[in-house]
Amino acid sequence: MFRPVRGMKDLYGIESSKYEYIRAKAMSVCSRYGYSEISTPMVEYSSVFQRAIGDDTDVVSKEMYTFVDRGGESITLRPEGTAGVIRAVVTESLIQTLPVRLMYCGEMFRYDRPQKGRFRQFRQFGCEHIGEKSPYVDATVIAMAAEILNVIGIFGFEILVNSLGDTETMEAYTKAIVKYFSRHEKSLSPDSQVRLAKNPLRILDSKDQGDREICSMAPIITDYFTKEAGSYFCKVCELLSAYGLNYEINNFLVRGLDYYTHTAFEFKSTAGQFMESIGGGGRYDKLLNMFGGPDVSGVGFAFGIERLMLLLDDERFNVSRRTVAVIPVSDEENDSAFSLFRLLHSNGISAEFIHYGNMGKKMKTASKLKCELALIIGEEEKASDTVTIKFMNTTEPEQKSRSISSNDVAQFVKNILS
Ligand code: HAM
Repeated sequence: MFRPVRGMKDLYGIESSKYEYIRAKAMSVCSRYGYSEISTPMVEYSSVFQRAIGDDTDVVSKEMYTFVDRGGESITLRPEGTAGVIRAVVTESLIQTLPVRLMYCGEMFRYDRPQKGRFRQFRQFGCEHIGEKSPYVDATVIAMAAEILNVIGIFGFEILVNSLGDTETMEAYTKAIVKYFSRHEKSLSPDSQVRLAKNPLRILDSKDQGDREICSMAPIITDYFTKEAGSYFCKVCELLSAYGLNYEINNFLVRGLDYYTHTAFEFKSTAGQFMESIGGGGRYDKLLNMFGGPDVSGVGFAFGIERLMLLLDDERFNVSRRTVAVIPVSDEENDSAFSLFRLLHSNGISAEFIHYGNMGKKMKTASKLKCELALIIGEEEKASDTVTIKFMNTTEPEQKSRSISSNDVAQFVKNILS
């Protein structure tokens, strides 16, 4: 038997309705805030992600789907949306008038260990606000992300925030954690021992239990903030409080991607069925510059759509279309019934043409398809240019069926289904 690749799944039925619903709601909130849609290619040259996300992150070092294409170029299926969007902003010279506000929705690929809410192909909805560096913008972006969740109907979440400060903060903090982790080097996991030499900040987002215990006593970044970084973060928090958002400061939140500076945040579900991160983001000061663009800063976030889907009740998406069956009694009436079926569709009415089997089987099919009416054409109806209408869901004998002129059928059905 063929099956989908591990960690990748087919999307159909209720899941597909949920996906479309989330996408539409998120887009409508963000359009109101001035965002327009961008679609970048699903693959980029590998260097785009290596440079932006950082060689020593788990995403780049362990999770990327990287191939050499037939032209000998190393290309990668995108593991996230930000790097490609910023690459596009620079290559397409989109920075003519600032700010540039872009939203995107689509497939991402990470070779991660599949489990509940974690896939190798998944979808993100994300936004990037480029060209304005202000605590007001950061707070607005976080508030907009929270608004998306509320509009979708998700209320059980908390917002974790932190700041990674500026370059000076990061240099001082890195020195402090290198000193601290060096004292515990032997107890760190082999991965974190490598991180200590290459990119010590990444130890703070290690998933290893032993590492987590060591991390809990590590120095905290607030003690190394420059004056500017400290007051920027205070203002962001003050604005989030003013917006009435339920947030918590978590000084060990460093996120898994190297490009963040200043504000970093994560949305965590508090609903029983899935208690993990559902989205995250932050500010990046150097990303545009890294791609050869101007020295401007940006801020953004992305939600994992499959994770949001887990938090939505199936019930709400179990809505079936209202439809009717058009049934010829015998093959002699197939053409007349088919004309009626086409007439209904050209009047915007959902209909099924059911012409296989005997009458009993045709009625069974109509009821399986949850048709509300059966429009039956037999020898008599064909001769008198009428249609017999059977109400499928009634138990009242006198309401069960009636005859109606073919000319009036479309209007009659429209009135019933409206
Ligand atoms: P991220 O935290 O790596 O950030 O991913 C954002 C969200 O994508 C996660 O919170 C999660 O909901 C979802 N996600 C990640 N990996 C998986 C997976 N394997 N299966 C299912 N869902 C997953 C970013 O990607 C940044 N680009 C966000 C950003 C935008 N920062 C600034 N602008």
